Amino acid sequence: MEQWSSKLAFILAAAGSAIGLGAIWKFPYVAGTSGGGIFLLIFILFTVLVGLPLLLGELIIGRSTQKDAIQSYKQIAPNSAWHLIGCLGIVTCFILLSFYSVVGGWIVIYIFKGITGGLTGLTEQQYSDLFGQSISNPSLTVFAQFIFLLITIFVVSKGISNGIEKANKFMMPALFVIFLILIIRSVTLDGAMEGITFFLKPEISNVTSETILYAMGQSFFALSVGVSVMVTYSSYLSKNENLPQSAISIVFLSVLVALLSGLAIFPAVFSFGLSPDAGPVLLFNVLPTVFGQMPFGILFLVAFLLLFLFATLTSAFSLLEIVVAPVAKGNEAKRKKYSWIFGLCIFIVGIPSALSFGIWNHITIFDKSIFDAADFLVSNILLPVGALLISIFVPLKISKEALFAELLHGSSISRKIFVMWYILLKYLAPIVIIFVFLDVLGII
Ligand code: PFF
Repeated sequence: MEQWSSKLAFILAAAGSAIGLGAIWKFPYVAGTSGGGIFLLIFILFTVLVGLPLLLGELIIGRSTQKDAIQSYKQIAPNSAWHLIGCLGIVTCFILLSFYSVVGGWIVIYIFKGITGGLTGLTEQQYSDLFGQSISNPSLTVFAQFIFLLITIFVVSKGISNGIEKANKFMMPALFVIFLILIIRSVTLDGAMEGITFFLKPEISNVTSETILYAMGQSFFALSVGVSVMVTYSSYLSKNENLPQSAISIVFLSVLVALLSGLAIFPAVFSFGLSPDAGPVLLFNVLPTVFGQMPFGILFLVAFLLLFLFATLTSAFSLLEIVVAPVAKGNEAKRKKYSWIFGLCIFIVGIPSALSFGIWNHITIFDKSIFDAADFLVSNILLPVGALLISIFVPLKISKEALFAELLHGSSISRKIFVMWYILLKYLAPIVIIFVFLDVLGII
């Protein structure tokens, strides 16, 4: 059985799965369209009170069974339908990666443009236009999406320990450093205060049912919970790992990156007189202008994009890993074969999302572009449904004592904290998720 080479390797890989487009690219634009500060507040509450308990639940399922996303449920609840949670997670990851890779491709395009001098010396308007033109060019976006997936397939086909783990060690600290530099520039721009206020000051009047739904979806998306990715990852974990501490570190890092990203983007948005509700293009429109106002800006911009690409890739690895692991079943040749087969299928399924920013922008599903519809389906329906099922499964199928015993392997968690976690998982998580669904459907 393959295992992580060290404790740090697991945290980095799990945090690598969590931290990606969700915290860096999606969080600011969804906060921008969903009320700013109040969104941040609700997002943090969801992440800590619902996301964290669920994450720990997934870690327990994986480590206690040492099996993939389907077999683990089968082992805990044999001869039942509960393993469908794993199947749902796999389908969700498949769709998720299909549009995730579109944005991964955008980063690839911008790295290329940055290196070849295409991102220097433009005005804010020119940067927006340039990005608009780039992502509406069908062959360019689809090609870039393909490159992004090729890298993902290549790494996953090599297996977790030599693939995902090795690459993980240096990039995260580097990403933090560059974010800090970016924030310093952003908050010292003229008029930055307005952006800081928008991002940090909760305006209760901005809350709608959608704000709450989006905050919930965002918190699951950014933690990679609800799809059994963390089950699969922790199945490679040894028994002496401290699970509560791992879960807390992952949550902490994920929230921190979202905060950093918001602090880098909103002051600049307001300073440049841009609109915070620009949607998926927000980060790509704003950042080149901020970097453009720094000495050696283009170097920083390219460095940022490379780290951003790396963070995005480590999430993509986890998404493909969970699809491939149940069919590869530890067999190397099969892993290779199915990484390519599924990776290429995901590419094909993702093409309409890529085209929806250009030649297919007139096609809508429930008033949303294909890309937005795929994202909505995953973030606001499939992830919460998966999370709901896991929150029901864990307390129902694993006894309270067995859960406590599993957590005590490698940690010295007190009974009191354990009971708090148990209550959050068993009662708060399902009630809140169902409540949010009913609220959005207008039933309550
Ligand atoms: N957490 C990743 C991000 O925020 O970019 C996205 C993600 C990866 C979600 C893996 C779900 C998952 F299983």
